[in-house]
Amino acid sequence: MARRFLFGTNFKMNQTPAESAAFLEALAGAVVIPDGAQLFVIPPFTSLPAVTDLAGATNSPVWIGAQNMHWADAGAYTGEISAAMLQALGVDLVLLGHAERRGLFHESDRDINRKVLTAFERGLRVLLCVGETADERAFDVGGETVARQLKIGLHDIDPARLPLLQIAYEPVWSIGAAGVPARPDDVEPMARLIRDVVGERFGEAGRDVPVLYGGSVDAANAAGFVALPDIDGLFVGRAAWTVDGFRSVLDASLRERFGRSIG
Ligand code: PGA
Repeated sequence: MARRFLFGTNFKMNQTPAESAAFLEALAGAVVIPDGAQLFVIPPFTSLPAVTDLAGATNSPVWIGAQNMHWADAGAYTGEISAAMLQALGVDLVLLGHAERRGLFHESDRDINRKVLTAFERGLRVLLCVGETADERAFDVGGETVARQLKIGLHDIDPARLPLLQIAYEPVWSIGAAGVPARPDDVEPMARLIRDVVGERFGEAGRDVPVLYGGSVDAANAAGFVALPDIDGLFVGRAAWTVDGFRSVLDASLRERFGRSIG
């Protein structure tokens, strides 16, 4: 069975609730989503009520995601948000292990594993990010890093929950304004490695887990990643923060993947 094509953006610490809702509203009028494709949008926590309300009211097929989550159900964790809180808003997906969470906020693989376990227990979809730093790449241990992040991040998960999992390969050196976009030749071996590690752990079912690429994706380079046999989608930052930008990167992707534009 052909794997689904996934495409989405993370707004990071940008946008007010009104701005995020306006984005989702405009997106609905701007794109036609082909069968076999799934879109997602990950606004900041404060935008989630407005965006999930709108998504519910308009029957939007776009998954709405949260950028992070704590592993505990409740407790003395000032500033944190639980899975139950996200689910009460109707959130579809939670982003876990983004490079900025790992690097700037010191999240460990074990922390991320706790979060993945909680999300799956709750039945929340997870977008798990993995990727090596520039130093790890320079010392040729990028594969080891990604394998470790996966082995620990997915430790002890119930294989029955695998349909809730998507993985984004986001090399840290490729992310953000200071990042250098990876070349498709850098991405394909890592995507294959991700598939192999998950496949070794979970057997055939692991091989169906979607693997996305993210890191300085734009309308000009998107098709090169989408064409890779082991890549099932794109996770876009800056280039998709406007509806026009989202639309043009999506259009380039769908032309490559489905041979047609979004109309
Ligand atoms: P970028 O962000 O596309 O702006 O590099 C990607 C990400 O952080 O997921």
